[in-house]
Amino acid sequence: MAKVKDNVHVHDNIYLLSVEYNGICKMGQFFMLRCWELDPLLSRPISIFDYEDGELKFLYQVVGKGTEKLSRLVKGDEITLHGPYGNGFPYLEKCEITLAGGGIGIAPLFYAGRELNRINPNRKLNIFLGFREKSPLIDVFKEQFQNVIVDIGGVITDEIIYKKESVIYTCGPEVMMQKICEEGMNSGATVYASVEKRMACGVGACLGCTCKTVNGNKRTCKDGPVFLGDEIIY
Ligand code: FES
Repeated sequence: MAKVKDNVHVHDNIYLLSVEYNGICKMGQFFMLRCWELDPLLSRPISIFDYEDGELKFLYQVVGKGTEKLSRLVKGDEITLHGPYGNGFPYLEKCEITLAGGGIGIAPLFYAGRELNRINPNRKLNIFLGFREKSPLIDVFKEQFQNVIVDIGGVITDEIIYKKESVIYTCGPEVMMQKICEEGMNSGATVYASVEKRMACGVGACLGCTCKTVNGNKRTCKDGPVFLGDEIIY
């Protein structure tokens, strides 16, 4: 169990939940969350938005019964937290890295950016974010990072510069990630894509979250959620 510190309505159906947590977690990993007994049956996989000083944050979108129940949590409530699960993004020390996200897929990129800057404060980090409409999250990113390029209602993938030596971490709508993976393959860039799938167990046991890769079907929760871009079959 973990205690809720805060649960803020950001805008539309997006919320930011903060809970007390003291443990190890890596960028790109996720937790299985629940704050109910039986209904809905399954916990909800939510990726780490941020983690610092015993405070773990999840940015989530209300899309159904489970996330709607999460949205009603208030300070002091208790929540069941299992994880962290998944492989996450690699901790590369030296290179320039591009982060590209769209919609709620920007969530894991915030912690990724903070971790990448922590392990190498001199690195160049390029951040591309796509939103359907103006969002307060744009300011959250701009306050934290220098090179943030935002596209509202457009196609963020067209703004990215793909080079042989580029390393890109991406998460967001499938069509966006597919384009980035394809452009990455064409240019020789290395892409790490965080795949989103519906999950049941979250630990690799139920095979309910498989995705197609060039190496056969893989479990998004256990073998992913981060895969090499040229591994995924869209
Ligand atoms: Fe059960 Fe991935 S959610 S194997």
